[in-house]
Amino acid sequence: MTTQELPTLLTSRLRLRTVAEDDVAHVRDLYSRPEVTEFIGTADWVETTREQALSRIARYRAAAGTATGIWLIETLEEHQPAGFALLKPIPWSRHLTAPDDGTAPEPPQDLEIGWHLHPDTWGQGYATESARALLAHARRHRLDHLVAVTHRENLASQRVATRIGMTHRGTTDRYYDTTCELFTIEL
Ligand SMILES: CC(C)(COP(=O)(O)OP(=O)(O)OC[C@H]1O[C@@H](n2cnc3c(N)ncnc32)[C@H](O)[C@@H]1OP(=O)(O)O)[C@@H](O)C(=O)NCCC(=O)NCCS
Repeated sequence: MTTQELPTLLTSRLRLRTVAEDDVAHVRDLYSRPEVTEFIGTADWVETTREQALSRIARYRAAAGTATGIWLIETLEEHQPAGFALLKPIPWSRHLTAPDDGTAPEPPQDLEIGWHLHPDTWGQGYATESARALLAHARRHRLDHLVAVTHRENLASQRVATRIGMTHRGTTDRYYDTTCELFTIEL
């Protein structure tokens, strides 16, 4: 793998770092759980195979940008992987990017902050702690505006968004070809 490494981000209990092929067992376990994937994407899905986990690791590594990326979260004390924290361009819904004559430029993408935590770690504030580390990272890189989107019923994720200081803006259909709850923050 030749993709660039993300800067390691430290919090009081967690380390956020680049995911590696060695993390395959964790990634496979995480995304094979319906309670994790329930509110990620619009279709019912799980990924159960090692090949799917390796392919996801490659995609996550390739998502590394100048200030953006997808970080693996691990506990500082036990080095236990706990899921992922995301800071990345969010895809526009097709109706915003497919002009009839094909000439209009695609609008610049918004940046999305997100969190996928392992159920064994839920309820300990890890998503909030990781997200705050990403906010600080975003501020250091002079990013000025972030969005988060959640499924209408994903109250835990909405709670994380508001706890880190995001404002609920109602629903939007601007992203992911679906309708979701929109949260925004100015940094
Ligand atoms: C959403 C998720 C990231 C939360 O992770 P976490 O580490 O448990 O989050 P935290 O402990 O930092 O905070 C969770 C908050 O949600 C609250 N919460 C949890 N379940 C809840 C529920 N069913 N209804 C309302 N609030 C809920 C918790 O009480 C906590 O708020 P509080 O600290 O003010 O009490 C985790 O459940 C997850 O990864 N889910 C699967 C993937 C996913 O849905 N990601 C988000 C996609 S938008």
